[in-house]
Formats: sequence, C-alpha cells, structure tokens
Amino acid sequence: MRDFKIAPSILSADFARLGQEVDDVLASGADIVHFDVMDNHYVPNLTIGPMVCEALRKHGVTAPIDAHLMVKPVDDLIRQFIDAGATYITFHPEASDHIDRSLQLIRDGGCQAGLVFNPATPLHYLDYVMDKLDMVLLMSVNPGFGGQSFIPGTLDKLREARQRIDASGRDIRLEIDGGVKVDNIAEIARAGADTFVAGSAVFKARSNDDPHHYDSVMQAF
Ligand code: DX5
Ligand code: ZN
Repeated sequence: MRDFKIAPSILSADFARLGQEVDDVLASGADIVHFDVMDNHYVPNLTIGPMVCEALRKHGVTAPIDAHLMVKPVDDLIRQFIDAGATYITFHPEASDHIDRSLQLIRDGGCQAGLVFNPATPLHYLDYVMDKLDMVLLMSVNPGFGGQSFIPGTLDKLREARQRIDASGRDIRLEIDGGVKVDNIAEIARAGADTFVAGSAVFKARSNDDPHHYDSVMQAF
C-alpha cells in the first residue's frame, strides 16, 4: 500500500483569508500545501510568489509546502523559494535551459526537487536525472488555471511514470495535478499516483460560517 498524500491547491482558496484557509484545510486532514506560481509568461495567468510562501511560514504553517513553479526562467525563483521556506520545488523542463543544474540548485538549498510534465511533454526528460529527483509531477490539465477537466490520456502516462519510478528503486513521489475529484481519485491512484493535488474540488466546499467546512471533502478523498 502506497503512502497516499493529499495536496490541496491554494489557487482555489480565498486569497483574502489565505492563512485561515490553509489552517482549515490542514486541520481537516490535508498533508501538503500545493502552491501554484504563475508568471503570465510561461503560463497565461499571474498568481503568487515567494513573499506569500514566507508569509505562510510566519503565520505558523509547518506542513510541507509544494511550490509548483510555472515560470520561465526558473533559477532565480528557485533560490527565492528556498529562502521562503518551500519544502518541494518543482519546475517544468521546458522552462529551464539547464535542467540538471536547476535540480541540483534545489537539492543544494535543502529542498526536495521535482520535474513537472505537461500533458504533451514526453517522459524522456526523466532519462538522465532520476538520481536528482524527489518528485515527478504529471499535469492532467494544461497549466494555468484551476477548474479544468482531467485529460484521460494521463492515466496511461501515470502507469508509465510509475513503472519508471519503480524500476529506478528510488523513493520518488508521483504527483498528479489537474481535475482531480472525489469520483476519479481511486482510478488515478490505481494508475500509480501517490500524491494528489486538488484545488477546486476541495475549496468549493468553503463556508466561512463553519470552521470544519473542509472536513467532509477531505474525508471523501
Ligand atoms: C493548474 C495548477 C493546479 C490547479 C488545479 O495549472 O497547477 O494546481 O490549481 O486545480 P483543479 O484541482 O481545480 O484542477
Ligand atoms: Zn499545480
């Protein structure tokens, strides 16, 4: 039995109450805070950066923060997220001129390193860097926005990524991001994922009057 982890994407949280939202979702059983960084260049949307990550740490968040960098170039922001207290830092191979160097930069900063694969990005980017990875993140939507539908072909890609990770014998998490819902998570887990990002499916349960608003959705996962 794999060690399954749920990583709510705060992209769908209420940014005006972000600290409380993160506290609430962690209190309801979330394992990891998925932190989507978009630059309006690599992806057509603009979100949050290292200052917000640092603010969550100062607020008292001790759970792992999974910084998903949808930015180009990546190295300068990798350094800033190391300083801001990120736990995992993942980036898209197309966004780095020197993938091996960027991965090493993350590890040298004491963080866990990961590569992110868009739906049409081939897994061969894994070929020579398995020893530098702590996480492989497969996008099951095109990056940039929450609330999109899961692309079914990602299931085969998950099976292939699972085989590669198992064959490597290394301790590498296999994360899936985009369109994960209560009604498809079991199938996604069977295809090999162990870490599940869910944004809209979690935060649509918001009810500011009820301190336990995320309990039932987190239990359903
Ligand atoms: C998309 C982001 C995702 C997004 C997932 O570019 O990387 O993390 O927030 O949102 P849902 O779960 O709503 O598809
Ligand atoms: Zn993400």
